[in-house]
Amino acid sequence: MREWTFSVQKSARVCNIFCGEGAREEPLARAVAPYRKRFVFTDANVHRLYGNWIRAAFPETTVVAMPAGEEYKTPETLLSLLRAMAQAELHRGDCLIAVGGGVAGDIGGLAAALYMRGIACIQVPTTLLAQVDSSVGGKTAVDLGGVKNLVGAFWQPNTVIADPVFLSTLPPREIRCGLGEIVKHGALHAPLFSRLEEGEARLSEIGFLASLVEDNIAFKLSVVREDPEENGIRKSLNLGHTTAHALELSLKTLSHGECVLLGIVLEGELAQERLDCDKEYLRRLRTICAAALGGFPALPPLREALRLARLDKKNIGEEVTVTAPIGMGRYAVFSLPWEEYARGIERAGRKIC
Ligand SMILES: NC(=O)c1ccc[n+]([C@@H]2O[C@H](COP(=O)([O-])OP(=O)(O)OC[C@H]3O[C@@H](n4cnc5c(N)ncnc54)[C@H](O)[C@@H]3O)[C@@H](O)[C@H]2O)c1
Ligand SMILES: [Zn+2]
Repeated sequence: MREWTFSVQKSARVCNIFCGEGAREEPLARAVAPYRKRFVFTDANVHRLYGNWIRAAFPETTVVAMPAGEEYKTPETLLSLLRAMAQAELHRGDCLIAVGGGVAGDIGGLAAALYMRGIACIQVPTTLLAQVDSSVGGKTAVDLGGVKNLVGAFWQPNTVIADPVFLSTLPPREIRCGLGEIVKHGALHAPLFSRLEEGEARLSEIGFLASLVEDNIAFKLSVVREDPEENGIRKSLNLGHTTAHALELSLKTLSHGECVLLGIVLEGELAQERLDCDKEYLRRLRTICAAALGGFPALPPLREALRLARLDKKNIGEEVTVTAPIGMGRYAVFSLPWEEYARGIERAGRKIC
């Protein structure tokens, strides 16, 4: 079992993270013990698979399950959760436990941030993506008007419980989703990149990926510790995401992780056209992304999809801002007019897909 503790900026709180087999047992019991009342938020799929465990782990606790899926990551779901919390008469000294993937975690975290101006939150991530990425770092949000994560807050969880037991029920598509963020971390951190290259043939094996969770949490935490509210180095974690979010919202057949893998490659190509990049490294990164995707999919014309990149939160004024890989563990953040961005990504799409 690996355990990390870090102090939450501007408060006396600490966040404890447990990763490994058995994390959902004694460490979780210890984490919830101080709270008078608990409230569990999850989604319908997780409830179907793990409802028995939830009821046993949290007896006499209100359990609310949202419909599963990104399309429910909305202010409406958030509001109905807040209403349920009020109905359960949660108070300042109580805690919300979010059991599920990044969607339940992001909404649960935001509800914990807002309710009575902030109550304790325990994250129990059950997808690979949530374990390696979304449960760590305190970003919470819902989507609004077709824009991902438009309404949100920074609210660090008090505890994160990443237990591999949950990963055994994940369908392949959800495994690929987590893999997108794992490759993103690998592109930013040389030791992880080596592990991915060595394990290229095993990128669809959950056993191999589960063995990478610990290193991913350690890496993400090192970035979050240095820059908790994304004023500097944490921006690197947006690698490939400007394009990924645009693709995800318009090409509904591709998952977030698949779009991240594509976004990393497409933005890498865009960077090569304008910056001094390590071309050999970008070729190796492209090989890993292709292996993770099981080959690049045929893409439809991208122009309409890319219009959504205009709405990205990272943009300043009329320009589109991207965070692109440029060399081993190196990235560049740059802005360019939308028309130039769209033409560059379209060219890259024709080249690789
Ligand atoms: N807060 C952050 O820093 C951050 C970082 C990355 C991504 N995100 C957000 O995370 C979300 C994506 O997260 P996700 O990929 O976990 O999506 P998700 O929460 O929708 O989960 C994916 C699917 O897997 C199901 N599921 C969950 N656990 C399962 C299990 N153990 N076995 C079988 N099925 C299971 C869910 O019901 C859902 O259908 C996006 O909304 C993204 O914006 C947030
Ligand atoms: Zn992502």
